This record gives sequence, C-alpha cells and structure tokens, in this order.
Amino acid sequence: MPNLSARLRLEPVAPRHAADLLALYRDPAVAEWYGRWTRAAIERETRRMARGWQIDGVHKWMAYDRVTGLCVGRGGLSRAVVDGRDRLELGWVLHRRYWGRGFATEIGRAGLEFAFGPLDADEVVSFTERRNRRSRAVMERLGFHHTKNLLIEGVGCALYELRRPR
Ligand SMILES: CC(C)(COP(=O)(O)OP(=O)(O)OC[C@H]1O[C@@H](n2cnc3c(N)ncnc32)[C@H](O)[C@@H]1OP(=O)(O)O)[C@@H](O)C(=O)NCCC(=O)NCCS
Repeated sequence: MPNLSARLRLEPVAPRHAADLLALYRDPAVAEWYGRWTRAAIERETRRMARGWQIDGVHKWMAYDRVTGLCVGRGGLSRAVVDGRDRLELGWVLHRRYWGRGFATEIGRAGLEFAFGPLDADEVVSFTERRNRRSRAVMERLGFHHTKNLLIEGVGCALYELRRPR
C-alpha cells in the first residue's frame, strides 16, 4: 500500500522498482556516497528490501512526486543491527535535482510517523558518514540527537537517536 505525504507517494520497495532505483544510485551526486551499482546488484537489493517488507512489515520506500509521478528518491525505515542492537534505522537518498526542497525531511517525517504510530517503536536511529553534512542536517531538522561516532565497515559515521515523543 502506498503512503501519501504532502508532496510524495511512498511505495514499499519491490522488484518492479529496480530500474528507478538503479537510475537513482547512478545519479553522479548519489554515486559519490553509494558507489557503483550493476543491474544485477540492484535486483538483489530490491528483492532484499521487498523481503524486509514481508518479514518485518517495514523497509524502504520509493518516493514519487504526487503531481508529476517522477521518481524523487528513496528512504524511510528498515530493521538493522546498529551499534550491536537490532534497531529501526531511518534514511534518505534523493536525485540531485530534488535537493534543497525539503523532500528528505518529508520522507523522514513520514518514517517517524510510521515508527511511532503503527510500529509502536520506542526509538529510531539514523547514521551517516561523519562528513555527510546534508544528511546530518536532515537528522537535526527531524529532532535527532547525535549520540556517538562509530565505525561502520571501516567508515567513520555519526550515530543519531530519537526517542518516542512523550
Ligand atoms: C542527504 C540528502 C537526502 C539531503 O537532501 P537535502 O535536499 O539537503 O535535504 P532536504 O530534502 O531535507 O532539504 C533541506 C533543504 O531544503 C530547504 N527546504 C525547503 N523547503 C523545505 C521544507 N518544506 N522542509 C525542510 N526543508 C526545506 C531547507 O532549508 C534545506 O536547505 P539548505 O540545503 O539550503 O540548507 C541528499 O543530499 C542526498 O540524496 N545525498 C546523497 C545520498 C546520501 O548521502 N544519503 C544519505 C546517506 S546516510
């Protein structure tokens, strides 16, 4: 079932999104952070995300402009072991042409509503490379607190946490 935010239609990632996800990860401004992807690797990735929806009832969304229908990016929640614990992790990736308009923050808000509403979570975490200033700014806009720095696959990352609002 798609989820609607003010400007976006958020669709649970499924194998049919492989072409859109590949185009997103091949956007040069995104590839700078996400590396090089082949069609086969993206197909494995969309299948992995679809399994997350089936098993955990949550994973990332593809985000489409509600008016034009164009792909804006992907983001949202997924279950992941972060800093030694199974947690709900929130993230975002946008095509370069959509940066600077609040779309990542909008996806993040939809993720938090899902986490603290239907999923009844106590906390959500988010992390990014320490040098990823734009992603850290999204976390801070959403009210996350920087709790520690940690190495993830050898890369220096900043971990942010947000507890359920009282
Ligand atoms: C990280 C990323 C998603 C952040 O995108 P972004 O456009 O900077 O973030 P938002 O969509 O929340 O937009 C915020 C900007 O829009 C502005 N804005 C306009 N309308 C807004 C609104 N309604 N709400 C919030 N911000 C709004 C903000 O002032 C801010 O402007 P600034 O960049 O000049 O400070 C983007 O840089 C990206 O895709 N990077 C590559 C992939 C990546 O690194 N992902 C994160 C991996 S952990």
